[in-house]
Amino acid sequence: MVPEELISAAAEMIASAKSLVALTGAGVSAESGIPTFRGRDGLWRRYKPEELATPEAFERDPRLVWEWYKWRMEIVFKARPNPAHEALAELERLGVLKCIITQNVDGLHQRAGSKCVVELHGSLWRVRCTTCSYRSRVEEPPREIPPRCPICGGLLRPDVVWFGEPLPKAATEHAFRLAMECDVMLVVGTSGVVLPAGLLPVTAKQHGAKIVEVNVEESAITSIADVFIKAPAGISLPRIVEKVKAILQSG
Ligand code: OAD
Repeated sequence: MVPEELISAAAEMIASAKSLVALTGAGVSAESGIPTFRGRDGLWRRYKPEELATPEAFERDPRLVWEWYKWRMEIVFKARPNPAHEALAELERLGVLKCIITQNVDGLHQRAGSKCVVELHGSLWRVRCTTCSYRSRVEEPPREIPPRCPICGGLLRPDVVWFGEPLPKAATEHAFRLAMECDVMLVVGTSGVVLPAGLLPVTAKQHGAKIVEVNVEESAITSIADVFIKAPAGISLPRIVEKVKAILQSG
C-alpha cells in the first residue's frame, strides 16, 4: 500500500503544475490485460524482436509478422481502458494535463477519452503501404493476412516503429518540445530503457521540471524522480486524481 503522504505529494505537484505532461509505456495498459515487453511475462521473453519487429523480418516473412500483429490487435480489440487510462483522461478534462506522450500502440488512451496523445511508436490501428503512399486507419484486426493495398496491391504493413527504424519526425519533435516546456512530467509504466523515449524525462528534468513516477518496480527513470510511487497505475493514478480534484476544489 502506498502511503497517503506520497499520493498527496504527487497530487500537490500535479495540481500546482503550469504545464503537466505524461509519458506512458506498456505498464499503463498492463491492467487491461495487454502484455508488457520486458519483465517476467513480457513479450520479449517469449518472442524475438528481430524475428517480428524489424523491417528485415517483414521482408523475409510478412505473413509471420502479420500473424503476430493480428494476435496483438485481437488482444487490444477485446481489451478495455483501465482506471489508469481513465484517470489520465480525467486529468486532461480538468485542464490539468496538457498532453500524453505514449510509447504504446494500443490506442487505449484515446478510447478512454484523452484528446492530446502523441504516439511515439505509431499505432496498431493504422496501416501503410510498403509500395505507394497509401495510409489508412483500421477499425479491427485484418481478416486476411498479409493485407494488400486497395490502391496498388502492394503489401500493407502496421504503421508502427520497428527496431532499426526512425521514430515519426513530427511526433518526436512534438514530444521533445513538450518535455522541454513542461514543469511536471508524470511518467507511468515504462522501463525507460528504449531511446529516445527514455530521454524525455531526462530532458524535462534538465529544463527544470519535477518528475513524478508511477511504476510497480524501479525503472531507468527512478533515480531522477522527485516522487516515486511504487504501485500499479490502475490503483494509484485514480487516488492521485481524487486528491488533485480535492486540491483544486479547495483552492
Ligand atoms: P516495458 O515492458 O519495457 O516496461 C513496462 C514497465 O511497466 C516496467 O517498468 C514495469 O515495471 C511497469 N509496469 C508493469 N505493470 C505495471 C502497472 N500495472 N502499473 C505501473 N507500471 C507497471 O515497456 P515500455 O517501457 O513501454 O517499442 O517499452 C518501451 C518500448 O519497448 C515499447 O514501446 C516497444 C518495446 O520494444 C517498440 O516496439 C518500438
